[in-house]
Amino acid sequence: MDLKKLFGFEGKNVVITGAASGMSRAATKLLIELGAKVYAIDINPIDLPVTKALQADLSKKEDIDHVIEQLPDQIDALFLCHGIAYFPGKELLVQKVNFYSQKYMTESLLSRMVEQGSITYISSVGGFGWQQVYKQAIELINLKTWEEAMDWYERHPELIQSAYVFAKQCLESYVTYKCMSKEFVDKKIRINAINPGDTITGLTEDFNKSTSPTGDSKEGEAMISNIFLKSWNGYPARAEDMGYPMVVIGSKICSYMSGQLIYIDYGLTSNWTSQALLQENTKSIEKIASESNE
Ligand SMILES: NC(=O)c1ccc[n+]([C@@H]2O[C@H](COP(=O)([O-])OP(=O)(O)OC[C@H]3O[C@@H](n4cnc5c(N)ncnc54)[C@H](O)[C@@H]3O)[C@@H](O)[C@H]2O)c1
Repeated sequence: MDLKKLFGFEGKNVVITGAASGMSRAATKLLIELGAKVYAIDINPIDLPVTKALQADLSKKEDIDHVIEQLPDQIDALFLCHGIAYFPGKELLVQKVNFYSQKYMTESLLSRMVEQGSITYISSVGGFGWQQVYKQAIELINLKTWEEAMDWYERHPELIQSAYVFAKQCLESYVTYKCMSKEFVDKKIRINAINPGDTITGLTEDFNKSTSPTGDSKEGEAMISNIFLKSWNGYPARAEDMGYPMVVIGSKICSYMSGQLIYIDYGLTSNWTSQALLQENTKSIEKIASESNE
């Protein structure tokens, strides 16, 4: 069997963001190996032999518009992976980077996606419990312009307070809401997201600092380990543990898969769900998640 043919990326135009580091960099290396023509975008320089490397700040509409002009007319697969951790005062920036730019890029590039193309996002276990803000997220998703969305964020400080969490919840709501909508389904464009657990990447230090109430990296690392690893005596994932499955999901191997939020967390969130169900719904799933490893 020809494995490159099975993936179906050979000679195809693939656009990927966040490719300078971490999960997306791992995915980009594999896509190159599989023969894709890779158009890679990041705020930082990209050191891989891609077809075209573009440097842009994807929190800015003008930068995105400029990048879009430089992408091919036909796109076979789109991987939206860029993301940042949250620090106080950066609530709106996190919404723009971790969700809104991804929606904006998706919708700006949709007309260039080929029939049966794929769009795959990196969300997070941090978006667990997205169902609880679904209606608010859909209100945001249904706004037509970047400017209307920024205005909406300004009017909803209570939602963007849970900065990283809300952005990822919006992304997961987007996949769920849009997978069967006309603009995707008419061309049979598949959309899915992976939801990674704790992974060692370029973001690890920022996650450690932002998790600690005092910004202490060691304390944050211990808190993250307590939430994500202690219950199964586990270990953090490598970038490849996320980047490679993401490539598979965006490939022809998964040609009948759409609308899925795929947790890659060694079962952690299934365990949270199990605990919530067994506790007769007396506690919310988020509460269980935060308490599960205390
Ligand atoms: N590392 C984890 O434990 C973890 C867990 C769950 C989800 N995630 C998500 O995984 C995705 C990939 O992150 P990673 O962990 O590989 O981290 P990373 O920092 O190694 O990679 C993220 C990339 O996004 C780029 N980026 C950030 N802001 C940008 C902007 N404004 N414009 C363009 N590029 C920008 C960065 O330069 C970087 O190359 C993110 O969406 C993150 O939220 C990470």
